[in-house]
Amino acid sequence: MALGIIGGTSLFDTKLLGDVMIERNWRVVKTEYGTVHLNLFSTIDSQEIVFLPRHGKDRNIPPHRINYKANIRAFKDLGIMEIIGITSVGSLKYSIKPQSLIVPHDYISLGSGPTYYDYELVHVTPCLDEGLRKHIIGAARDAGIEIIERGVYFQTTGPRLETKAEINFMKDYADIVGMSMASEATLAREAGLRYADISTVDNYAHGIIDGEALDYTEIVEAASKNMARLESVLQRLMEVIPHIPTD
Ligand code: HPA
Repeated sequence: MALGIIGGTSLFDTKLLGDVMIERNWRVVKTEYGTVHLNLFSTIDSQEIVFLPRHGKDRNIPPHRINYKANIRAFKDLGIMEIIGITSVGSLKYSIKPQSLIVPHDYISLGSGPTYYDYELVHVTPCLDEGLRKHIIGAARDAGIEIIERGVYFQTTGPRLETKAEINFMKDYADIVGMSMASEATLAREAGLRYADISTVDNYAHGIIDGEALDYTEIVEAASKNMARLESVLQRLMEVIPHIPTD
């Protein structure tokens, strides 16, 4: 049994996931949609953890150019049926403070996201996997880490951040904003894989706090600061995940 983790660039710096700098831990997986670099980093409690860096092994693929179809397909080809996404987000609500962790229960993605059904009339009904969500929440509880158990994720295409007017619009319908989770969740659903997400709230979205300008470097710095709490949840999650019942 193996668990897939798709993480952003900040996960590179965690020791929890083994040493991603070691070349021999990397595998190249060729899928019909493209080539993916995966890090086979560790086995915890006979659980193999496979880490896919969303922005590529060299951390240089911007959100709108990520090959989501190849990424999700690589897990399926390896027989990995459960994926946890780790995403960095901005908060759309004053009450959801930067440094919070949140497990979204739903999402909005109004643009045309990636699909495996370009040439067939198939319409999946998207959702996040409730069983995996519950496990993330339980793992956080076990680890004594506060986590927000629900929230609606609004996906933008990036790479730019949002205008104040866009955020003002989104905040009535969603709780957090990011650039990748909806694409992964939808493709996982299409591929028949279970997917849930932990979002690290790394900033207030543009204009949520009056007079506060947004700077991407500050967001990246905040993401590394959130790391210790995220690591505790992941550590516990890896211990419990082999026991997840399939629903
Ligand atoms: N907007 C979009 N994506 C993000 C943000 C944001 O404010 N913060 C982290 N990822």
